[in-house]
Amino acid sequence: MSEPLPLIIMNNVSYTYPNGTQALKNISLNVNSGEIVGIMGSNGAGKTTLIRTLNGLIQPQKGLIFIENGNIKSKTIAELSTFVGIVFQNPEHQLFSNSVQEEIKFSLKNIYPENKIQEKIDETLSIFQFEKYKEKSPLNLSGGEKKKLALASIMCRNPKILIFDEPTLGQDKNEINFLINLLEEEKKKKKTIIIVTHNIEFAYKHIPRIILMAEGRILADGPTHKILSNKKLLKKASLILPQLIELKSTLKTIGLDIPEKIYTQEAITAFLMDYFKKKY
Ligand SMILES: Nc1ncnc2c1ncn2[C@@H]1O[C@H](COP(=O)(O)OP(=O)(O)O)[C@@H](O)[C@H]1O
Ligand SMILES: [Mg+2]
Repeated sequence: MSEPLPLIIMNNVSYTYPNGTQALKNISLNVNSGEIVGIMGSNGAGKTTLIRTLNGLIQPQKGLIFIENGNIKSKTIAELSTFVGIVFQNPEHQLFSNSVQEEIKFSLKNIYPENKIQEKIDETLSIFQFEKYKEKSPLNLSGGEKKKLALASIMCRNPKILIFDEPTLGQDKNEINFLINLLEEEKKKKKTIIIVTHNIEFAYKHIPRIILMAEGRILADGPTHKILSNKKLLKKASLILPQLIELKSTLKTIGLDIPEKIYTQEAITAFLMDYFKKKY
């Protein structure tokens, strides 16, 4: 049996904004069905532009994009939106209804049959813990809640490919944990997930593969621990390591190689305590 083709194929994609900014330069990448991929890189690297090409919002002047064996040029934005769901960084731009409930209802239109919609709305309100806010105007939600509503309005459509732009940015610990639980559920459903993030600890823990970008190009594409332990590469991408990861890397240079799966402060402390107990 031959290998299935990747779900997403980008081949030599370049995009220049109308003002002349060349935001993507010869981007080629593949994403397999069911994969979870992170996109990292400093501000202005082209991450948001790249994901916007995947739902047809941006049409590259050069190169080809295939999703599920079809050139996305042959699909309308409405068609693409049923299977590529993008949760953008600034939820304000994604919310426009008078109430939380209406927002979700609008999202579900044309996705589910009329007689299923109320059930789906209720289910979504429940999953996202929005029952008590259902009549509230999205404008009156907190920043974190707005982000959650944008997430709900995309995820209720059940797209095969889910894309998140900086989902942990500005989120508190509870909100991040909520997001992680959702991701775990989507993983179980074998969804293909692309996450743009600056959050290195989040990436270590939840994203197995990283595509590292700088100045509109892909600098590296590989296993997260390999990419994030390559200091030269990170410097090139102007990414700063959190102190904990920096500490691990320093300890490695003196011969103390802390296993990959140990990365929280508590776990590193426990590891070091154990190590020194055994040694002395
Ligand atoms: N609407 C736009 N018009 C012109 N230039 C843009 C626009 N959006 C982004 N850019 C520029 O394109 C480049 C890539 O931006 P972006 O994709 O937003 O990067 P990132 O998401 O990695 O921060 C940057 O130089 C940015 O200033
Ligand atoms: Mg961005």
